[in-house]
Amino acid sequence: MSTVRHGMSSELVLAGGRPLRGRIRVPGCKGISHRALLLAGMADGRSRIAGMAEGDDVAHTAEVLDRLGVRLRHGAPDERGVGVATVTSGGVETFREPDVVLDCGNSGTTMRMVAGLLAGRPQLAVLDGDASLSARPMGRVVEPLRAMGATVDGRAGGTLPPLVIRGGALRGTRHALAVASGQVKTALLLAGLQAEGVTEIVEPAPSRDHTERMLAALGVPIERRDPTRVALRAGAPRPFEIVVPGDPSSAAFFVVASTIVPGSSIVIEGVSLNPGRIAYVDVLTRMGARIEITETGIEVGEPVGDITVEHASLHGTEIAGEEAIIDELPVLAIAAAFAEGLTTIHDAGELAVKESNRIATLTQELTQLGVEVEARPDGIVVRGGSPRGTRLKSHGDHRVALCGAVAGLAAEGETVVRGWSAVGVSYPRFADDLARLLGDA
Ligand code: S3P
Repeated sequence: MSTVRHGMSSELVLAGGRPLRGRIRVPGCKGISHRALLLAGMADGRSRIAGMAEGDDVAHTAEVLDRLGVRLRHGAPDERGVGVATVTSGGVETFREPDVVLDCGNSGTTMRMVAGLLAGRPQLAVLDGDASLSARPMGRVVEPLRAMGATVDGRAGGTLPPLVIRGGALRGTRHALAVASGQVKTALLLAGLQAEGVTEIVEPAPSRDHTERMLAALGVPIERRDPTRVALRAGAPRPFEIVVPGDPSSAAFFVVASTIVPGSSIVIEGVSLNPGRIAYVDVLTRMGARIEITETGIEVGEPVGDITVEHASLHGTEIAGEEAIIDELPVLAIAAAFAEGLTTIHDAGELAVKESNRIATLTQELTQLGVEVEARPDGIVVRGGSPRGTRLKSHGDHRVALCGAVAGLAAEGETVVRGWSAVGVSYPRFADDLARLLGDA
C-alpha cells in the first residue's frame, strides 16, 4: 500500500486480499470533539480535552473559537501518547466580534453548531466554507434560530451559506424539526442555553445525542422527555475534563474491512459505544458479521469500550430509517457489495446533502467496482458480487475516499483511490493505521 502525492491532492494505491490483524485506536470522535470545544468555549474557566479528533473539521471549530477570543493551547501528549488541548474562556459574554469571516471549511457541523452558539450574541459574524459546504442546506438551522429572535441571513433567502448572524435576546421556543438532525438540535440547544424561557426540540426520529449526554454530565439541567424530545433553560456548562473516546464512524471503516477481508482479526480500543452511533454493528451482525463489543467505562456520559471483529461471510439485508444510521451507510453499502444477495437502504434521502451527494457518488464508485447498484431518491440498492480493483474517486468527500480504501482491501487486484487527501477532514492518519494492521509498519 502506498500514497502518492500530486500537488495538493494524493492517491492511495492498495492491493486487495491482505488480512488486517492487530489492535488499534482510531482518532477521537469528531462529533464529541466539536461539542467539547463549543461547550468549553461557553464555560467560564479552563477545560481540558484529551484525544481530540485530528481532522480539519474539528480544527475549523477550534479556529472559530479562537477568533471569538477563546484561548486554545495544544499541549504535549500525556503518558498514553494522547494529545491534550486546554481551552480557556470567560464564557459567552466575553466573546468578541470576529474581525474576519469565520471559515468552517468543509464542516457542516461547525457551521450549524456555531450558528446556534452565536445566535445569542449581539456581535456580527459571517460564516463561510468551501465549495461543498456552500451547497449544503442551512434553512433547517436558520429558520428556528430566527424564530428564537436572532437575525440570521444567508444566500437564497437564508437557505445557503455564507450565513450572516447578529444574535441577541433569544426567547425559548418549541421547535418541531422537519428533519432529524444532531447538528441542528445541538445548535438550538446552544442557543437555548442563552435564551429566556424553555427551548424544546421535537424531532421526527432520534438523532445523535452527544450534546444531551455531555450537558447532563456537566451539570446543566436538561430534560430528555423521550428519544425524540428534549428541553432546557438558560444555563452554562461548568469547565470540565474529557478524554474523547474513539470515533465509531471512523472505526466503521476497519470494522467493515476486517469483516470482508478473509483472515482478518482486529480489536479497536476505546471507541464511543453510544447506541445511536454503533447501530451499524447491529446491521452487520444481521448480515452475518462476527463482531463483539466490550464496554470498559463511561466518559462524560458516553459509554466507551472495545470492538473485536473477525472475518465473516455476509448476506444482504434491508436498512430502514428507524435504525437512525447515516454516516455509516456508505461503508455499509461497501459491505453489501461483498455480501451475497440484495441490500436495500431506505429512508436515507439525507445522503444526498452530505459532503457529496452520497447517493450519486457511491452509485458511481460501486458501478466502477463492477457492482450492480441502483440509485433511488431515498437510498440505494446493492447486489453483492465480486468487486474488482479499479480506479476510484473521492469526489472530495472523506467518507467516499475511505469507502474506496475499504473496497480496495477486499477487491481482487489493485485499487487506486484518487483525491485521497479528502480524508484529512476526519481521518488524516488512516493510511498509517491501516499499514500497521496490514503488518507494513
Ligand atoms: C452530526 C450529525 C449528522 C452527521 C454529521 C455529524 C453531529 O448530521 O451526519 O456527520 O455531529 O451531530 P445531521 O445533523 O444531518 O444529523
